[in-house]
Amino acid sequence: MRLNPFTGAYLTDPASIWQRILDDPDGVHYAEDLGLWLISRHADVRRALADATTFANALTLAPVYEVCPAAMNVLMRLDAPPTTAAADPPAHPRTRRALRATFANTAERVEAEYGAIVRRRVDQLVARLAARQGDRVDLVPELTTELPLLVVLDILGVPDADIARIRSWADGQIALLWGHPDEAEQVRLAQGLLDFWHYCEELVRQRVDGGHRGDDFIGRTLAYRDDDDAVLTVSEVASLAFNLLVAGHETTAGLLAHALDQALSSPRHWSAIAADPGAVPAFVAETLRFAPAIDGWLRVTSQDVTLGTVTIPAGARCLLLIGAANRDPAVFTDPQKFHPHRADVGNHLSFGHGPHFCIGAALARLEAEIALTRLAESIPGLKLASEQRRSYKPNVAFRSHHTLLATIDVTASADVPATQAGAPAEARVA
Ligand code: HEM
Repeated sequence: MRLNPFTGAYLTDPASIWQRILDDPDGVHYAEDLGLWLISRHADVRRALADATTFANALTLAPVYEVCPAAMNVLMRLDAPPTTAAADPPAHPRTRRALRATFANTAERVEAEYGAIVRRRVDQLVARLAARQGDRVDLVPELTTELPLLVVLDILGVPDADIARIRSWADGQIALLWGHPDEAEQVRLAQGLLDFWHYCEELVRQRVDGGHRGDDFIGRTLAYRDDDDAVLTVSEVASLAFNLLVAGHETTAGLLAHALDQALSSPRHWSAIAADPGAVPAFVAETLRFAPAIDGWLRVTSQDVTLGTVTIPAGARCLLLIGAANRDPAVFTDPQKFHPHRADVGNHLSFGHGPHFCIGAALARLEAEIALTRLAESIPGLKLASEQRRSYKPNVAFRSHHTLLATIDVTASADVPATQAGAPAEARVA
């Protein structure tokens, strides 16, 4: 079968494709167009995420297609050591231990260590939007991509002045690894990725040379290694920063855009959020299930493995379709419905599962919850623009909106009579 992820329905309505794959009795398919095995059922995706012995991470951050020789020449010079998402044992447990020690990854630690940063950045951006009464704005550059990037820069101790180039490098990395750029673009993006890596190396090198450790992620991680390469090398500290600068913002940007899309597409949802901030965490959880910011993730098999009736050979790259697994009727009641109060939402796989479970899950949730709450308080009349048409960037892993056009109204109430409530996002034609 073919997934055709870079054209047609997958770019506007991926759920229709997931449904088709889930409806097929096999559930596991080889996609000839990508050279990837597609795994769609919840039980199989969960197993693959959890079983690091059979489903390895060695190629998770390698391009999904054969890059041209000129781009490959550039990529060969990228000597970032594998850490966390790109690593298997023994490097994975060691680098993950370092990350857990220096990066807050539980709700309590995130609130204590990053809560003030998140609130300050949300307030800045929401105030800037609220000052544009009557304007039509694109929430993607103005809020959803900006907020997580500013937060992760603060956490890492990276200067705000570098935001533009980090955004461009991170976007480029996602397009290069999981998108479908032409050859000239591959070379340009590969060069950008190499520059990005050298930037991270330099960031860490300056701290080491200056003897200044500081109470930010880079300072803490250098203190954690305590000059012991067996704990973590300086290059691994740079590699962790390199990964966090992408993982920490592109994903949460997707979550924010999906949550706002769902909330604003149905005035019923938006008014519920405005009326009861206590409802926001469940709304965010259902957004994660229904419209995951990463809806496909990669593993490579280290041995033959049989799922149902299909045997995947050793050395095969697999695309775990998290988006499909989150709509598997074997696990979720009425899975095609966006239902903010569903009881089974906790089974979603949007942050992965098992040894590589997302380190930033608690931070992403906090950012989304505070952003939605403050936005609904300050701009209750926020509305999607009538010309908004949903479409996503061509990519097999990151599901991100091109635009989210909305009009600012700080005076109108979020309350609308039930008869005026528009069609929910999941029912709208993109
Ligand atoms: C909505 C936001 C996010 C989503 C949907 C998301 C999703 C994921 C997924 C699917 C994985 C792979 C898990 C697996 O292989 O089992 C992952 C891993 C990871 N995420 Fe996130 N993520 C988000 C936010 C963040 C943030 C904010 C950070 C850090 C600032 C972060 C850092 C990481 C890291 C370091 C890993 C690798 C963990 C490991 O391999 O041990 N993520 N994330």
